[in-house]
Amino acid sequence: MNIAVIGTGYVGLVTGACFSEFGVQVTCVDKQGEKIEALERGEIPIYEPGLDEIVARNVRGGRLAFTTDGADAIDRALVIFIAVGTPPSEDGSTDLRFVEAVAREIGQQIDSYKVIVTKSTVPVGTSDKVRAWIQEELDRRGDKTRFSVASNPEFLREGAAIGDFMRPDRVVIGTEAMDDYAIAIMKDLYRPLYLNETPFVETDIHSAELAKYAANAFLATKISFINEVSILCEEIGGDVQAIARAMGLDRRIGKKFLHAGPGFGGSCFPKDTQSAAHFARDLGHEFSIVEASIRVNERQRMRMVDKIVGALEGEPEGKTAAVLGLSFKPETDDIRESPAISIVRALLERGVSIRAYDPAAMVEAGLLVPEMTLCKDLYDALADADVMVIVTEWNEFRMIDLDRAKELMANSRMVYLRNIYDAERLVAAGFQYWSVGR
Ligand SMILES: NC(=O)c1ccc[n+]([C@@H]2O[C@H](COP(=O)([O-])OP(=O)(O)OC[C@H]3O[C@@H](n4cnc5c(N)ncnc54)[C@H](O)[C@@H]3O)[C@@H](O)[C@H]2O)c1
Repeated sequence: MNIAVIGTGYVGLVTGACFSEFGVQVTCVDKQGEKIEALERGEIPIYEPGLDEIVARNVRGGRLAFTTDGADAIDRALVIFIAVGTPPSEDGSTDLRFVEAVAREIGQQIDSYKVIVTKSTVPVGTSDKVRAWIQEELDRRGDKTRFSVASNPEFLREGAAIGDFMRPDRVVIGTEAMDDYAIAIMKDLYRPLYLNETPFVETDIHSAELAKYAANAFLATKISFINEVSILCEEIGGDVQAIARAMGLDRRIGKKFLHAGPGFGGSCFPKDTQSAAHFARDLGHEFSIVEASIRVNERQRMRMVDKIVGALEGEPEGKTAAVLGLSFKPETDDIRESPAISIVRALLERGVSIRAYDPAAMVEAGLLVPEMTLCKDLYDALADADVMVIVTEWNEFRMIDLDRAKELMANSRMVYLRNIYDAERLVAAGFQYWSVGR
């Protein structure tokens, strides 16, 4: 089978590479010429463990190709995935400009049956718009070509994307009523996963679209929930990690996403919760739990800034903070909506100098916040710092040589926002410490 994946970002590139690994013939399309040229040279534009090998192997095998020429890729494909970005607009709604542009390009191009699959995260009803945009373009040129539309939301996690695509918890496929042909084609495409007994959720197109938002909003709510518990812990002198463990061992609750910290970030949770709240309001309903999760998350970030300012004895002006971790989570270079970035900005505004280090996200972060000093490693960042702030729990921050850190720093203070240290160890090493919910 021939497929085209339009939009070669995190989702598009992983999707294209993994389908080619299944033996499908894949063309990944992107309008950014430099990105496609880099991929053709074998350079992977994102940091995603394992992706480079899969891409190289399948390019060599002739199953994976990259192009800026959407028309040609669309012509040859039976299934066309839309995997472009769906960024938030000012008011929190979803900007569908890129999805519309691709849908119209498809409508201008197709002259044989295709299944058009939305993989981007899009508000409920977008697939109807995709159908309308394609149909409008076909009508404009008097073409009667038939096509199906489907929704196949993506649940992969950055940093673990390959495993998530190859061994997903489930695959969700939404199609229009009675579209057995499209379902059969989608099943054929995902056959290796069917054989692995991956659960498939076949449903109507609107439910598939909503399933993605419901899942992300629920996970974001779990994070906000435990963060709210962490505030109570700080009041009573409790331990949020013990509480999270006590909760998480209950299988009805589950252990995941119960880590207190600086709040959720990344390219998905903040925008998807905003979008869900927005389209619910458009439907005349307040998605109250999601609205509350968003508010708790915003407050949590600012609480982290207060914590750091507190560690600087309430006098941040002229002090230096060593910020460890800039990406929104470990194993990715993605800094979109990273709590680290908003914390750094808030500290800069209060007159704090920032010495920052991240194993993967330095280049992007440096472009975004040029006022901070980028350091070559974590110990370089600690030089003369008044406080060490661990924002992202990269593995290399779990075993810092505290004696060496103490020698390098102006003051032995650590604010760890991810609860990856034991208080006893820090006290024994002569550090003052601040954590979340303990
Ligand atoms: N990143 C994630 O972890 C993740 C997980 C699940 C779902 N999603 C969703 O998947 C979608 C894509 O996310 P992403 O992180 O891959 O975005 P991204 O910004 O990394 O990539 C989008 C790509 O689309 C390209 N593009 C835009 N318009 C185009 C056009 N007309 N023709 C060809 N290419 C075009 C851009 O140049 C860019 O390379 C979003 O809706 C997102 O919410 C993302």
